[in-house]
Amino acid sequence: MPSNTLKNVLVVQYSQTGQLAAVTAKIIAPLQADPNIAVRVETLQPEQPFPWPWPFLRFLDAVPETVHLLPGRLKPLSLVGDEQFDLVILAYQVWFLAPSQPITAFLKNPLAQRVLRGKPVVTVIACRNMWLMAQEKTKALLSAAGARLIDNVALVDPGSALATLITTPRWVLTGRKNGFWGLPAAGLTDTQIRHSRRFGLALREALLANREQGNPPLLDGLGAAQADPRLYFSERAATRSFFVWGKLLMAVGRPGSWQRIPLLVLYAIFLVVMIVTIVPTSLALQALLGPLMHPWLSKIKLQFEQPSGSSTERSHIYED
Ligand SMILES: Cc1cc2nc3c(=O)[nH]c(=O)nc-3n(C[C@H](O)[C@H](O)[C@H](O)COP(=O)(O)O)c2cc1C
Repeated sequence: MPSNTLKNVLVVQYSQTGQLAAVTAKIIAPLQADPNIAVRVETLQPEQPFPWPWPFLRFLDAVPETVHLLPGRLKPLSLVGDEQFDLVILAYQVWFLAPSQPITAFLKNPLAQRVLRGKPVVTVIACRNMWLMAQEKTKALLSAAGARLIDNVALVDPGSALATLITTPRWVLTGRKNGFWGLPAAGLTDTQIRHSRRFGLALREALLANREQGNPPLLDGLGAAQADPRLYFSERAATRSFFVWGKLLMAVGRPGSWQRIPLLVLYAIFLVVMIVTIVPTSLALQALLGPLMHPWLSKIKLQFEQPSGSSTERSHIYED
């Protein structure tokens, strides 16, 4: 670490395809290029690696421990616990409307909690489009660790909710990302990934002005987090359903055990029935009731976009 270092930044990440890692790399590049900032990257490694693509039953089998925040163990961290950071960047995938298991394992790790205590944290999410409940859970875990959430960047796939209902599971379960039958490719666009550099430029400026020590967000005005309040109801309902099925599955066996298989098959059928009935019904109801619900939806949108917000008035400053 250079002796003239003024600021220390910890980056914690777990990505499977490398998409989130690419976003993180764009964000931290301006920090790494600055001689006054030292960046330490902690890439989480589960003791039992998660597959990519995911076999179907293995995918469903991950629901209970993910949603109940009872993750599999991580390999030892490179951190020892007494490091002092000025800022922490936590980059996470959403799994079943919760943070991915490796990220939950990190946030519940006593050593990590020592490192996080009192520190400002910027969360960075790259997911399909449903991150509201995951961020609520992450906020609770950060708060239990004594950390201070200062910003949230949420990048979502640009495809419509209906298109990504097909393209994301196809990507996760087969590894195929390309567009087909007129549907867009799964995942973020290259432009979204490239433009995430603006967050790094703003963070660098803020760090060099000691603004991470205050409470206001550092990434406001940069279009950091756009919440879709219409997904709020689906997220609430699905979270409840994941929770109940998760309890049932945990009651019959451990992750990977044969005892879970019959219930997992039943769960798969339940999910398909839910998707073909509840999703269109909920979309139709929202289209009908939309005008009536507008003030309430606007409130939800504003609330979930905190602390960084969705406005873009400062984006032009950091354009390349
Ligand atoms: C087990 C699993 C569950 C997922 N659940 C969600 C979800 O609830 N909401 C969502 O928007 N994306 C979900 N995704 C998509 C991921 O958030 C992410 O976009 C994708 O896994 C690619 O991440 P990576 O490129 O960093 O590996 C899920 C992916 C996996 C593997």
